[in-house]
Amino acid sequence: MSLQPIDAQLGKHLQPGDRHYRAFVSHPDNYDIVAALQFTLLTALGLREHHYLLDIGCGSLRGGRLFIPYLLPNHYFGIEPEAWLIEEGIRNELGESIITIKKPSFVHDRSFNLEVFGRKFDFLLAQSIFSHASAAQIRACVASARKVMEPHAIFVANFVESNVNYEGDEWVYPGGSYYTMDFLRSLIAEQGLACMPIQWPHPVGLRWIAIVHPDQANQQLLRDMDLLTIRAERDAALARLRQLESHPYVKIGLAVRRWLQTLIRRR
Ligand SMILES: C[S@@+](CC[C@H](N)C(=O)[O-])C[C@H]1O[C@@H](n2cnc3c(N)ncnc32)[C@H](O)[C@@H]1O
Repeated sequence: MSLQPIDAQLGKHLQPGDRHYRAFVSHPDNYDIVAALQFTLLTALGLREHHYLLDIGCGSLRGGRLFIPYLLPNHYFGIEPEAWLIEEGIRNELGESIITIKKPSFVHDRSFNLEVFGRKFDFLLAQSIFSHASAAQIRACVASARKVMEPHAIFVANFVESNVNYEGDEWVYPGGSYYTMDFLRSLIAEQGLACMPIQWPHPVGLRWIAIVHPDQANQQLLRDMDLLTIRAERDAALARLRQLESHPYVKIGLAVRRWLQTLIRRR
């Protein structure tokens, strides 16, 4: 395959898992849109610059390259076992100057101990983490998350929804793990937290959830989110309908229908 130099640099010819900072975290073609979807979802859920964000498995800062500039200095925290990914993300996507200005913090750890930073968070994110983790790893992550979640915190994650559960003990990548919504819901409930599905797009169909303390305020916010999504879907469907109605053949068809209706009414 012959690629433009920029595409080669972005790893577009590579497969998920290949040793390139974009390919290692998923299909390189989705690097931009998955960054945008993480950022827009969290800001739609209320992320503001003064909030503290913990990005679990932050990879090469696909999301971090939007969150770090947005948040105030010292407000972005990332956990990523592969140190080289963060280094490459900074080198290729952000630059050292933004790191000096925004002072994000990183640890390289794979134990899902989220207490390492010694602070609590307003938002937590595990983008494409539960889609590779074993049930034991997800349990460890949620148990630890509960200890660092502010009472109003929202922990956003996504996973591959299936009719059956992955039963292995290992992290799976390339490829992935999969769970039923009921399984995840009860795993999260065991840790004293509530799991709310969120309607939000993902290019490879991962299912988004919000994990919250089971109190009314957050649940109301998430219900409002659902309503927003339904309205957005309705508006998009109406726009498609209007586009369809403006097609010349459809216009003729509609005119014929109106004419036939008038004829029938006159009889
Ligand atoms: C599919 S990538 C997603 C990365 C990032 N969240 C994104 O959206 O680009 C999964 C990431 O989880 C990291 N990872 C693997 N095991 C981990 C663990 N035990 N704890 C935290 N992160 C882990 C991998 O190194 C990889 O960067």
